[in-house]
Amino acid sequence: MTIIDGKEISARLKEEIRIKVEAIKLQGSKPPHLAAILVGHDGGSETYVAAKVKACEMVGFGSTLVRYEEDVTESELLNCIDRLNKDPEIDGFIVQLPLPKHISEEKIIESIDPRKDVDGFHPVNVGRVVAGMPAFVSATPFGIMELLKRYQIETSGKHCVVVGRSNIVGRPMSILLSQKGVDCTVTLCHSRTRNLKEICAGADILVAALGKPEFLTAEMVKEGAVVIDVGTTRVPSSETKSGFKLKGDVKFDEVAHKCSFITPVPGGVGPMTIASLLYNTLLANEHKIYPAYE
Ligand code: GUN
Repeated sequence: MTIIDGKEISARLKEEIRIKVEAIKLQGSKPPHLAAILVGHDGGSETYVAAKVKACEMVGFGSTLVRYEEDVTESELLNCIDRLNKDPEIDGFIVQLPLPKHISEEKIIESIDPRKDVDGFHPVNVGRVVAGMPAFVSATPFGIMELLKRYQIETSGKHCVVVGRSNIVGRPMSILLSQKGVDCTVTLCHSRTRNLKEICAGADILVAALGKPEFLTAEMVKEGAVVIDVGTTRVPSSETKSGFKLKGDVKFDEVAHKCSFITPVPGGVGPMTIASLLYNTLLANEHKIYPAYE
């Protein structure tokens, strides 16, 4: 059994990005610049955005953080997005989710210029992924694909079961795994799926992305399966300074020994997401996804 080291692969990906940025700067070109919009003071969002800004510094990107209070209006946010869409200094930007209830996430995401949508949430990028075109792929699915590649995990002809159909993880994951060249046979399961246990137990590659801590037990995993745990639920804990612990969707201790590969939580998929965001921002800076529009 191999424990997939997301920290190590993410550090490697970031180092590759840092070297490319150095080359861009040496050429006298503008280095990538990522902006983030953060609304309110949600603990998780604060942590993620701070980590994204720090990661930008580490690889030599410029970064801008735009903060709004919880009571910001939708039109104020839309104005900010319009400014970032037009700002030639900004290669890509994200609006950290979730947003307060009085703001439509759909409307906000749709207002982002797809060429700057480095989160890959805009329907144009989602559609381009489905069509197999160059696109900004959202960070978690991209990170998982990168882990599979870098650990040289065979995907062709394998039965992959994805549990969870979120727009950000489960659904795009099912599309990427079934793409030509990856060639998995994919089953996408969700809360209404019948015989979930049996379906999971038939999987060669099992992606757990339903957000229920320790949902996936040993009886749901085939001997020799590859298990990718996307869960990151914060549960209260007296053992940590922060007062919480991250729990995955997989009962790691009982599942791990059955697997050929497994991602731990923390330290598996999580660390890959920020590296993927940086990678998308580098692609935006180099106009790699939308060359025809530049
Ligand atoms: N909230 C949780 N994950 C993400 C993410 O990847 N991007 C954004 N914008 N918000 C998030």
